[in-house]
Amino acid sequence: MTPSPGFRVRLVDWREASGTLSAIRTTVFVGEQGVPPEIEIDGRDPGCAHVVAESDSGEAVGTGRLMPDGRIGRMAVLAAWRGRGVGAAMLEALVAEARRRGFRETYLHAQAHAKDFYARHGFVVEGEEYLEAGIPHVLMRAPT
Ligand SMILES: CC(C)(COP(=O)(O)OP(=O)(O)OC[C@H]1O[C@@H](n2cnc3c(N)ncnc32)[C@H](O)[C@@H]1OP(=O)(O)O)[C@@H](O)C(=O)NCCC(=O)NCCS
Repeated sequence: MTPSPGFRVRLVDWREASGTLSAIRTTVFVGEQGVPPEIEIDGRDPGCAHVVAESDSGEAVGTGRLMPDGRIGRMAVLAAWRGRGVGAAMLEALVAEARRRGFRETYLHAQAHAKDFYARHGFVVEGEEYLEAGIPHVLMRAPT
C-alpha cells in the first residue's frame, strides 16, 4: 500500500478561503521574503482559481493560483511543510485546471531560486532574469 502523503490539495473559491490563503501568503511572501503587502495583495484574487493544500489534521499549509490568462502564481508552502511534495501536488492541480479551462500552455514568473523546482515539472525558461518586488525572477512556460 502507498503511504498517505499527509496532505491533500483541492480547488477552493476565493470568497470561501481568502482569509486562510492570505494568511499563508503573508507568512511566506511578506514575513519570510520581505515582499511589501501592497504588492502581495494585488486585487486579482477574486478572478483567479485557487488551490489549498491541507494537512491530514486540517491545517492549511500551502496555496497557489491560476489567473484568467493561464498564468500560475503565488505558490507558497509553509516552511515546515516544504520538501514533502506539497508544491508539486499544487502545481499539478493548477496545470490540470489550466488544461480543463482550455489552455494549451501555462506560464509563470518564477523566483530564480525556484527555477529548478518548476523545471522538474516541465517548465522551460524564456528570456533573461529580471527583478520583481526586489527578487530575481524568470519567465517560464509549460504545455498543459
Ligand atoms: C517553491 C515552493 C512552493 C516549493 O514547495 P515544496 O512543497 O517545497 O515543493 P516540493 O516538496 O514539491 O518540491 C521541492 C523540491 O525540493 C526538494 N527539497 C528537499 N528538501 C527541501 C526543503 N527543505 N525545502 C524545499 N525543497 C526541498 C524536494 O525534494 C523537491 O524536489 P523534487 O521536485 O525533485 O522532488 C516552496 O519552497 C515555497 O513556498 N517557497 C517560498 C515561496 C516561494 O519562493 N514561492 C515560489 C515563488 S515563484
